[in-house]
Amino acid sequence: MRILGIETSCDETSISILEFNQNQCKILVNLIYSQIAIHQPYGGVVPNLAKREHQKKLVPLFKLALKQTNLLKNKKINGISKNKEKELNEILIKDEILRKKILEFLKKYFKPKIDLIAVTKGPGLAPALWSGVNFARAISFYWDIPIVGINHLEGHLFSAFLPKKIDQKEKIDISSDLFPAIGLIISGGHTQILLVNGIGKYRLIGETRDDAAGECFDKTARLLRLDYPGGPAIAKEALKSKKMVKSAIEIKLPRPMINQKNYDFSFSGLKTAVFYLVEHLKKQNISLKEIRPYLANEIQNSINEVLVAKTLRAAKNFKVKNVILGGGVVANEVLLNLFEKEIHEKLPKIGFIVPEKKYTGDNASMIALVAGIKGSKRDNWRNLQADANWQL
Ligand code: KG4
Ligand code: ZN
Repeated sequence: MRILGIETSCDETSISILEFNQNQCKILVNLIYSQIAIHQPYGGVVPNLAKREHQKKLVPLFKLALKQTNLLKNKKINGISKNKEKELNEILIKDEILRKKILEFLKKYFKPKIDLIAVTKGPGLAPALWSGVNFARAISFYWDIPIVGINHLEGHLFSAFLPKKIDQKEKIDISSDLFPAIGLIISGGHTQILLVNGIGKYRLIGETRDDAAGECFDKTARLLRLDYPGGPAIAKEALKSKKMVKSAIEIKLPRPMINQKNYDFSFSGLKTAVFYLVEHLKKQNISLKEIRPYLANEIQNSINEVLVAKTLRAAKNFKVKNVILGGGVVANEVLLNLFEKEIHEKLPKIGFIVPEKKYTGDNASMIALVAGIKGSKRDNWRNLQADANWQL
């Protein structure tokens, strides 16, 4: 089965094509267009700008993906029936840029050999999600290809099982032996600890009460006048502190909720603490630039230590076999090292499953993979809707 994955929940437009047959999986292509440069001047993602960029990039990326997989076939005579054009206009009534591009594309090319369309339905930014969903609905209708809406968080949860390399067949071994497991999803929009009893069997046991871990990296980076996205910027800045002499000023930030017995998080207080610390240093005429590597290092340690402590507590108390990570913050190498060390020391029998760095951020392959492993569920293109708050 050949699955087309479409992901537009935030600020990456991604198109992927997977082959999935009885747990054998091959990624034929995984394209990601990042909008970071567009949102950088605003210090965060601007939803309507994200929508516009998705609308501009979806069709060109799709075309490129088909071209790279030899699935793009020119029609001898360009054209599309009036009835179908009318329906497409209805589907894409609120997506003018996308509508024009799709019509032009469908006039020119034949239906490619794709058996299923898997699109991110939510959670995410509504205007961004709708671009991907309506794009998927339009081609599902026009070419009569089955469609299924996928939960973005479920994508992150299983991203660790994607084949390591493009164009290489791998066995996707998600057997019942892996479970129960603790899933930690840490991204720009979410911080959740899930008890995973199998594919589709999840129980939310803890989450952030305010900011997500990635959001905390992004917001504190801004306070330090570092670029968006803040996670990689803070990691890079923190690294500089390792090569410097120890700071004369003691910088200590809280580890919010680390000792509470629940599995919830709260990161907004950390952001406030950083704000006051920066103000305090300013008043003492200490240059931000000089002290910044230490601040970044302490912010990173604070977030990471809380994430690790809560996840390990959950893993121990629920007596799970594995800890599975997913989401953009998993790209943080200091976090991964801390996880490895702590699991090795405290819970040596528990397995630690992490995605390849290239699959930590948003990508359409993880969306297509979930459609593959979950099997036969299908939606109707007519009723499929984006759901910005869809809970896993
Ligand atoms: O999963 P993702 O790409 O998008 C969402 O679904 O939100 O996650 C993006 C988040 C951003 O907040 C970004 O700052 C964070 O992941 N991030 C990192 C690192 N790379 C990306 N956080 C910490 N360290 C990193 N190296
Ligand atoms: Zn994400």
